[in-house]
Formats: sequence, structure tokens, C-alpha cells
Amino acid sequence: MYWEKDLEVLDRKHLEKLQVERLMTTLQQAVNSPYYGRIPEISKAIKSPIHSIDQIRELPFTTKEDLRNDFPWGFLSVDKREVVRLHSSSGTTGNPTVVYHNHHDLASWANLMARSLFAAGVRDTDVFQNMAGYGLFTGGLGFQYGVEKLGCLSIPAGAGNSLRQIKLMRDYGTTVAHAIPSYLGRLFDVFKEEGLDPRKDTKLHTLVIGAEPHTEEHRQRIEEMFGVKAYNSFGLSEMNGPGVAFECTEQNGLHIWEDAYVVEIIDPITLQPVAEGEIGELVMTTLDRVAMPVIRYRTRDLTRFLPGKCKCGRTHRRLDRIAGRSDDMFIIKGCNVFPMQIEGVLMKLPEVGDDYRITLETIDDQDEMIVQVEVKKEWFKGDLAFLDKLQKYITRLIRDEVLVRPLIKLVEPGSIPKTEGKAIRVFDRRKK
Ligand code: COA
Ligand code: AMP
Ligand code: ZN
Repeated sequence: MYWEKDLEVLDRKHLEKLQVERLMTTLQQAVNSPYYGRIPEISKAIKSPIHSIDQIRELPFTTKEDLRNDFPWGFLSVDKREVVRLHSSSGTTGNPTVVYHNHHDLASWANLMARSLFAAGVRDTDVFQNMAGYGLFTGGLGFQYGVEKLGCLSIPAGAGNSLRQIKLMRDYGTTVAHAIPSYLGRLFDVFKEEGLDPRKDTKLHTLVIGAEPHTEEHRQRIEEMFGVKAYNSFGLSEMNGPGVAFECTEQNGLHIWEDAYVVEIIDPITLQPVAEGEIGELVMTTLDRVAMPVIRYRTRDLTRFLPGKCKCGRTHRRLDRIAGRSDDMFIIKGCNVFPMQIEGVLMKLPEVGDDYRITLETIDDQDEMIVQVEVKKEWFKGDLAFLDKLQKYITRLIRDEVLVRPLIKLVEPGSIPKTEGKAIRVFDRRKK
């Protein structure tokens, strides 16, 4: 059973032919943007068209830095009037990463999302509760439009408020829900506190989990706690958001939709393709986006292609679960954090000393970000009211920057142990 049989089981030869055609259309569209309009390789590829998808390697990469440097309009390939939505990264300092969509892009994204959910066994008879953050997070509206396209009854619950999540589930008979894997431990605890068992006291049969790295063991624990099948969903805002790669009911890797993206895996040092089946950095090119095509985007996510064909019959290749990142970004409570964002906030404050340390810990089954901050000697003098005010101020500034409330611990200068060589700022002690 497929959502779009013609495309999902297309043989590789025809799939690649389609990719070449769509890549040429994409390049013709991209060159309208100020950024790609300046790139000679793009204009050259338009003049002497690409015949094989491997020729995409003749085009330069696009990085997050490029997106930030040409903020806000540099990657826009249509007239501003045509744009109907944007999604943007968090942060109050520096340039965010922004992605624009026109009507075509939103319809295409909704369709990919519906196709992904259908592959995981979700049907129009399901009641779907989305526990991701709405607003600028793509996991909110991204799922919303896909679920509506598929025809489920959707419950746009948003993130947080576990008691209400449980009530919604029980009142409306939720059968499928989407959540960040690290949140589901907390949700299960609240079920228990209420004397409820999600296996008996809900109609849940499927969970969709994604937006952050998790292990196979973590998936199994979630499946046992909730008595469901849990399917991995991968995406990133620069490539729309969710709906990029998804597990089918075989649960053996994530089909990445190759009619919508050209997918490469490269060595992040040499920037050359890795050998078949080896882990490297995922690089992606949009093939069905009009307002803002992105060419050879370095996602920084590390993964590999899984060998062999999937029993489900879909011909789109499968990615292994994400093994890590080639940069220092970490994800907490479904929010992406670059340590530099935190450093940027701290170093602006005259009271703050030179050192800080970020520790990620699981406390009462909930992931927390603890930030130890050294306060300069002259300010660390036992004026408790002042320190209390400073602690609250830093908490607010960091929360505004990364969208997660940190636990701030103000400490004396020199009390954070120095690491050997290059300073290590982030210690991840979360329960995996
Ligand atoms: N998803 C949903 N709810 C979450 C969550 C998550 N990832 N992490 C925590 N929560 C819940 C908590 O359990 C708590 O509710 P409860 O006390 O009723 O159980 C509530 O959110 C607030 O938790 P708190 O620890 O005070 O969070 P915070 O202030 O540090 O962060 C969040 C606020 C959780 C709302 C914010 O981190 C968020 O919006 N996360 C979701 C991100 C997301 O959807 N990403 C997907 C991108 S595609
Ligand atoms: P965002 O652009 O905010 O949606 O964040 C995208 C990033 O979240 C990706 O580049 C990955 O690092 C991470 N991510 C999303 N889905 C998954 C997943 N299923 N497994 C591991 N990491 C994921
Ligand atoms: Zn499959």
C-alpha cells in the first residue's frame, strides 16, 4: 500500500532521470536568487545541462554560514509577494537561518509528510495528536498540514503540559501521536502519577518520534512503555522540516524521498563521497522547492546508506539512524543549541568571568541543561540578592536565545576544572 505508488516504487533508472530533470528546473529557479545568481557553477550548469545525477558534484556546497550571511533575502528565488510562510531558527543574537515557502512548496511538503505517515501505517481513520512545538518549529505546522492532507482527525496539542496531553488523548481517542523521544519518559511518568497505564487507558497504537538523536534501545523502551510501534522521523528546517526521511512499517532505516531531494554522503574532511555504506555527512539538494531552493546543503548530520532493498517495495534509499553531528550542535527538549549561542549571551555580561560549562543531565526522567557560570571576583562577594537577580537574568537571556530554560549555577572564578588542551564546554550525561 502506497500513498503515491508511481513515485514510491519507481525503478532507480527512472528515479535518477526524474532527479536530473528536477535538478535542472531547480537550478533555473535558484539562479533567480541573489546568492545563487552570483555562483558561476550554477549559471554554467544551466548553459550546459547536467545529464547524470553524479554531475551534481560539480556544484559548490551551501552551508549554514552561507544562509546566515545572506540573511534575510539572499536565498529567495521568487518575488516576496509569492511567499506565504517562513520558518526560522531560534536566537536573539546573530542572523537566524530562515526558509521561505510559497503555495507550491507548502503543498509539496504536506504531500511528503502524508506519504511518510502513510508508509508508517497511519490512515485517515486515525486520530493524530501532535505534541511538537508549533510556531516557528517545523515539527508543528509541518506535521499538521501532512496529517490533514492524509485525512486524520488532527489534534494540534503543541508541546508541554503533560496532564492536558493525557486528557486530550483519552477524550478524543488518540491513536497516533508525534513527540520528541526524550519527552516520552516524562509523559509516561505523568501517566503513572495519575494512576494510568497508556497501554490500557489509551487507544494509542503508533508513535512517531524524531527531531533528536536516539538509539534503537530507546525506541524499544518507548514501544514497551506505551504498547505501540514507534517510527523514526527525520528532517531539518533547511529541507522543509519533517517529511524528509521516514521509517516504513518494516522499521529498518529511514526511506529518504529521492524524488524531492538529491542525497549525497560525503567525508566531512575531504568533502568527497564516502564508500558505499560508510558513515559520512549528509548533503541534500531540494528538487521540488520554488521559493527557496537549496543546493548541496551540508546538513552536518552523520549517517550512512543502508544496503539492500526494503521489503516494502519502496525504491528510495534508506538512511541509518543519525549517528551524530560533524559540528558541536546539540539538541535538548527538541531545541537545537550551539554552545556559541550560550557563550555569546554570557560574554556580553560584565559580571561574568572567563569560564562556563554546560552539562546535560536527565533529572526525574526529563533532560535538563545545567550551565555553571563563573562570576568575576568583584561581583561574587556574598551579596545574595544581587547574585539571585543575576542568576534569574542569565536564565531569562539564555531561555530567550535557545528556547529551553537552563538551570544556572553561579560559581566562583577558577572553580570550573580546566580540561586538557582545547576547552571542552559541553558534557552530555543524559540517559540515552
Ligand atoms: N516536547 C513536549 N513537551 C515537553 C518537551 C518536549 N520536547 N520537553 C519538556 N516538555 C514539557 C514538560 O514535561 C513540561 O510539561 P509538564 O510539566 O506538564 O510535564 C513543559 O513541557 C515545560 O517543561 P520545562 O522543563 O519547564 O521546559 P522549558 O521551559 O525548558 O522548555 C518547551 C519549553 C519544552 C516548551 C520547549 O523546549 C519546546 O517547545 N520544545 C519542543 C520543541 C519541538 O517541538 N521541537 C520539534 C522541532 S521539529
Ligand atoms: P530543525 O532544523 O530544528 O528541525 O533540526 C534539524 C536537526 O535535528 C537535524 O539536522 C538533526 O540533527 C536533528 N534531527 C531531526 N530528526 C532527527 C532524527 N530522527 N534523529 C536524529 N536527529 C534528528
Ligand atoms: Zn520500506
